[in-house]
Amino acid sequence: MSAPFRVALSGDFRKADGSPVFPDFDLAPLKQAPGVEMAYLDPVNPLRADQLADFDALILLAHRFAKESVHPNGRLAVVARFGVGYDTVDVEACTKAGIALVITPDGIRRPVAVSIVTLMLALTGKLMVKDRLTREGPPGFARKGEHMGVGLVGRTLGSIGIGNIGAELFRLLKPFDMKFIAHDPYADRKLAAELGVELVGLEDLFRRADIVSVSCPLSPETHHLVNAERLALMKPTAYFINTARGPIHDQKALTKALQERRIAGAGLDVLEQEPPDPNDPILKLDNVIFAPHALCWTDQCFAGNGAADVKAVLDVQHGREPRLVVNKAVLATEAWKKRMAEFRARFGG
Ligand SMILES: NC(=O)c1ccc[n+]([C@@H]2O[C@H](COP(=O)([O-])OP(=O)(O)OC[C@H]3O[C@@H](n4cnc5c(N)ncnc54)[C@H](O)[C@@H]3O)[C@@H](O)[C@H]2O)c1
Repeated sequence: MSAPFRVALSGDFRKADGSPVFPDFDLAPLKQAPGVEMAYLDPVNPLRADQLADFDALILLAHRFAKESVHPNGRLAVVARFGVGYDTVDVEACTKAGIALVITPDGIRRPVAVSIVTLMLALTGKLMVKDRLTREGPPGFARKGEHMGVGLVGRTLGSIGIGNIGAELFRLLKPFDMKFIAHDPYADRKLAAELGVELVGLEDLFRRADIVSVSCPLSPETHHLVNAERLALMKPTAYFINTARGPIHDQKALTKALQERRIAGAGLDVLEQEPPDPNDPILKLDNVIFAPHALCWTDQCFAGNGAADVKAVLDVQHGREPRLVVNKAVLATEAWKKRMAEFRARFGG
């Protein structure tokens, strides 16, 4: 019998008592797959190479996969991120070592787009304020006229990024009769046109949008892309939403703009520092709605990410090319092709 195909799960998939952090991540298809052996790693961050020496595949939650995580024995074939952000993964190191990096856009597309809609509706509908007024009883009810919401028909939604999530956001909001604009230097122009989205320059987006939402990856290019100068271009009635990554906004500048009411409010699923310092002044503001980088966390989100990762790992086990590989160059190498042929020979194609 051939040696098993060994799959590691990063240690942060388990609580200290050994129970799963996300019970909706169904591991049964992996456990039941012929020829597969699965094990949790110790919760070490970043992952150490020696932890991964005996594994063919890694399913990775939030721990870092760094240069030091690559074992020189070359056994690891695939890192399957549980989600789509891969700023925790050294992609260059993966590519150099012939490791394919897979992400799960199918799992998070709808849940994250829904979380942007949730923040947009809560902000413009003044949901949090109205919740507080109600809890105050009669004095709160007496002040309800002071908190008019903002209707959305004809208002402009601007997305920084029109990829997997940004496009889904526009799809979901079609019946809202809003104007759609987006800034994305790498946009699929045909898709934007199909969705009725006007592609605009970055400054133009900040000037025109009633809601500015961020759905681009964190990279050196997008770090502090939302800065004091760009926030100053926003309408005083406009809202800012970030569900992508905290360091895309300059939080000091954002806090100042919000404190001085130079913009109407913000919805933040992500912060520059997570978790934030409890004394961070942004936490004191009543025109911000926060979520702890978890607004998209639903049963369906985790089931979807898990199913996508398990499929990718089992594809590699059977020598099939996984979908949604970030570093596609790996798939074109002779070493990868040889490896896939070996897997097909061992486990069936
Ligand atoms: N809050 C959460 O829990 C959560 C969950 C999933 C993803 N995310 C974040 O959302 C981001 C977007 O996810 P996605 O699946 O839509 O990714 P994606 O790669 O499909 O889309 C990102 C889009 O951003 C564009 N882009 C790149 N650089 C840009 C720039 N400088 N300015 C404007 N646009 C730029 C890309 O061209 C692409 O179209 C991820 O990178 C991740 O960080 C957050």
